[in-house]
Amino acid sequence: MSDPSFPGLSQGVSELRASEIRELLKLISRPEIISFAGGIPDPALFPLDAIGKAYQAVLQNPAMAGEAFQYSISEGYPPLRDWITGYLGKHGIEAGPEQILITSGAQQALDFIARALINPGDGVVMSSPSYLGAIQVFGTYRPTFISVPMDDEGVTLDALEAAFRQKPKFFYLTPDFCNPAGITTSLARRQAILALAHRYNVAILEDSPYEELRYENARIPSFAALEQQYLAGPDGDGRRLVIYVGSLSKVLTPALRIGWICADPALINTLVLLKQASDLHCSTINQMIAFDIAGSSHASQVEKLRKAYKERRDVMLEALERCLPKEVRFTRPDGGMFIWLEFPDSIDGTELLAEAVKDIQVAFVPGSAFYATEPKRNTARLSFSLGEPARIREGIERLAALLQNKLRANRAA
Ligand SMILES: Cc1ncc(COP(=O)(O)O)c(C=O)c1O
Repeated sequence: MSDPSFPGLSQGVSELRASEIRELLKLISRPEIISFAGGIPDPALFPLDAIGKAYQAVLQNPAMAGEAFQYSISEGYPPLRDWITGYLGKHGIEAGPEQILITSGAQQALDFIARALINPGDGVVMSSPSYLGAIQVFGTYRPTFISVPMDDEGVTLDALEAAFRQKPKFFYLTPDFCNPAGITTSLARRQAILALAHRYNVAILEDSPYEELRYENARIPSFAALEQQYLAGPDGDGRRLVIYVGSLSKVLTPALRIGWICADPALINTLVLLKQASDLHCSTINQMIAFDIAGSSHASQVEKLRKAYKERRDVMLEALERCLPKEVRFTRPDGGMFIWLEFPDSIDGTELLAEAVKDIQVAFVPGSAFYATEPKRNTARLSFSLGEPARIREGIERLAALLQNKLRANRAA
């Protein structure tokens, strides 16, 4: 078959492929499918009342409405930036507004940071597995990916140090309940990673959209907070290497498209210019709405989400524990939306998905999509964020039975 791509595409985009996840999201709309595929928030939990009131408040006030629908500054709506600095301050990150850029979701933050830092061929270190959207957007700038494996506490240090010796531009990770594996980087591991980053002078790109969705154990300080302690201490070297990315998508709603970058002001200055060149600024009305709801209902919204998602996580873990063949390993996340499965080598996640959709009407994401290099095909990501507990239980029971049958057949063969 001839290549359907448009002639003359740049090298950066010619390898972009339709994401397996986006393709799979189409399955969610078929009611007979129990889908653990889409790692998206449950729309039933969106703060719709607060959103409605916030829009009305803007529309009923002519001065506010005029501002809301006008062009505005690239750095972001000042009251929302102030709210973000206050929020970060509560979690040990002291930052002035000059260190914050509001972006169209965390995804645009990743794009701008990559655009600002990567020359073709530069090393980019990725936790392995990693967030697919990060692999995709970084890939458009033609880096050399260096993957570092994870254990229960995060990326392994020997492999990370070997990667840092290659002088990469930055190290990307999601420290809390990462997408896709659900693993949280422990405090000790964070401290060791930070020390390595400063020894080798490598930036840490800390992507933290899930940190509020914690269902047990105490919050662990972010890399950004730990770095501030380190910089204030006797060994502080004055270099601010952590680039922290936050988002309101998982707590309020993704449709507002509000994310932010908190970093060294020198980097923020460059990123503001990129923002200007790219889309001028985020939607002002959306930033105003986000500011209103974040100010009035962030805490209550977080509490509501934690309660609902914790129940779903517990149901999924209980069913996995009870039904899954012993040869299949799974992670036990403290929060977030994801559980990661690792099958024996004989089972390929993509083949299993095809069978699961056809034979048992269950969907998930094959894990191979989440590797920047050397995909492990015997893996899968399950999301528990959508769905009634009874359906989650039912879906896992069906999946476990399919796996039992396949493993039995493989043994017999
Ligand atoms: C790890 C991670 N980073 C970034 C994003 C993008 O989020 P946003 O909606 O803020 O662009 C996602 C979305 O799923 C994610 O899982």
